[in-house]
Amino acid sequence: MKIVHGVLSMLCFNLAYSHMTPVITHILPNQIKDIGGATEMACTVSNSSNYYVLWMKLDLNKSIEPFLISFKNTLNIKDSRLSIIQDSMMDEIRYTLQINDIQEFDTGIYRCQIVIGLHNIISAEVELKVRGPPMIHENSTASMVVMEGQQVTLECYARGYPSPRIYWKRENNGILLASRSIFKGNIWKIPAIRKEDRGSYTCIAANGYGKPSRRRIAIQVEFAPIITVPKRNLGQSLHNDMDISCNVEAYPSPAIIWINNNVQLSNNRHYRLVTTYLIVESLRLLILFL
Ligand SMILES: *[C@@H]1O[C@H](CO)[C@@H](O)[C@H](O)[C@H]1NC(C)=O
Ligand SMILES: *[C@@H]1O[C@H](CO)[C@@H](O)[C@H](O)[C@H]1NC(C)=O
Ligand SMILES: *[C@@H]1O[C@H](CO)[C@@H](O)[C@H](O)[C@H]1NC(C)=O
Repeated sequence: MKIVHGVLSMLCFNLAYSHMTPVITHILPNQIKDIGGATEMACTVSNSSNYYVLWMKLDLNKSIEPFLISFKNTLNIKDSRLSIIQDSMMDEIRYTLQINDIQEFDTGIYRCQIVIGLHNIISAEVELKVRGPPMIHENSTASMVVMEGQQVTLECYARGYPSPRIYWKRENNGILLASRSIFKGNIWKIPAIRKEDRGSYTCIAANGYGKPSRRRIAIQVEFAPIITVPKRNLGQSLHNDMDISCNVEAYPSPAIIWINNNVQLSNNRHYRLVTTYLIVESLRLLILFL
């Protein structure tokens, strides 16, 4: 036991006196930069002459492995946007990592690190956030055809920094908006869709930087035909023409027939059946008596 203790003391003595322990004396604070801009991240170290000073990049969400950007004054990756500068000042050395033409993927944590031993690493970190316009993800809701009464969920996902605010807007395409026309948030649940809810909806993502991103979708609602008759009683004197009309609202487009005394009417020298589409999903049927 005594011998072991002696060896340990010797080791401690060696570490403390024969090698100077390196120290990170200064690191730049966190950075927020615009896409296309530049940044310089400086890490100042003392007593590091026997060690390698590394710059590492870590993903904020740990979705990629940390990787080595530079060791001492040498870059480990070939990227003309990057450079590493070593300045010696008194008893300190500063390693400056420069990034030009910053891209969104440069977002992350940059770690200045000195490996002293297997279980002894000292480090300091700078976070780089890249300001960029919002972008709506492709996994957001696309146009759809649903049945009346069905639950509909409109989802919109966007990225960008600062984090975009997301809202849904309903467009008035000639339909009187019975329900709300704006929804703040990225998931708009419509518990039971009605035919009046059909039409165009736009997801808008805005973060005050660049143009808001938009995604327009169409919702078609299938519903049973609704027949309305503008005039129930019509009169006309003999040998004159007369129009009889009926309005049918339906989606998808219905097949329409006219019946008189249990006989289906068709175009002939007596009748002319005319179908007029009024608005996209609503149609008007006109029967002309010649
Ligand atoms: C560097 O090492 C010397 C000798 O051990 C020590 O006096 C000095 O304080 C160290 N520098 C820093 C910044 O810790
Ligand atoms: C990373 O995580 C943050 C919060 O933990 C989150 O807001 C952000 O959307 C994530 N980014 C990506 C690209 O997944
Ligand atoms: C949509 O895609 C983005 C980016 O890939 C992801 O962060 C988000 O979680 C996705 N949303 C869903 C509901 O899958």
